[in-house]
Amino acid sequence: MSALYKSNYYIGNRQCNTEQIRFRRVKDSLILQKLKKMLGLKLPTDPRWVNIVEKKIDEILTDHAYCEQKAASTAISLIIRFPEYTDLVEEMIALSREEMGHFKMVHDRIIARGNSLGRDRKDDYVIELMKFFPKGGSRSDQLVHRLLYAALIEARSCERFRLLSEELKDKELAEFYHKLMISEAGHYTMFLKFARQYGNRGEVDKKWEDLLIYEAKIMKNLSKKETVHG
Ligand SMILES: [Fe+2]
Ligand SMILES: [Fe+2]
Repeated sequence: MSALYKSNYYIGNRQCNTEQIRFRRVKDSLILQKLKKMLGLKLPTDPRWVNIVEKKIDEILTDHAYCEQKAASTAISLIIRFPEYTDLVEEMIALSREEMGHFKMVHDRIIARGNSLGRDRKDDYVIELMKFFPKGGSRSDQLVHRLLYAALIEARSCERFRLLSEELKDKELAEFYHKLMISEAGHYTMFLKFARQYGNRGEVDKKWEDLLIYEAKIMKNLSKKETVHG
């Protein structure tokens, strides 16, 4: 039996054969190459952040579980706040389910390690990021700003998951983060697509660029904590 078979690779709940695994890996590596270019982040995470995380896996799993739960509640709050945007509502229904699925996957890991979910902690990265756009403005401006924040949080999470998938010594956990990285990349592009669809394309692109520059300044003081955005 090949080493690939032994890796028990799953797509969803379906165990795959060697051919499907090879195809999936080629597809994933193409996505990865594209991902490095497309995320557009101005400052990469200091790779030493993985060393900090590796010493405190239980801590990052707790923080990660809450990130997934917050991603689900962001999707639900967009539905409540902007119900007339039917395309968005449809996608947010699916996203909230998917993010709760991720939350369960992380929660299961916490339990399997003999722990229970710890308390939530404040996310300094998100708090700082969400100071960028002025409060108020038109309804469509408010929607665009929320979509751009969500896109960036997904992009940075995706970049962090990529690092974990490449650098963690625990290969099973690395594989887990590889799969999540692919999901979060899809979320990042979806939020950015909606921002461009609902706002003025030129203005949205300028706001996105400015937000990326601002985010890089926040990141200069981070990469020191065992949290997804710390
Ligand atoms: Fe997620
Ligand atoms: Fe996500």
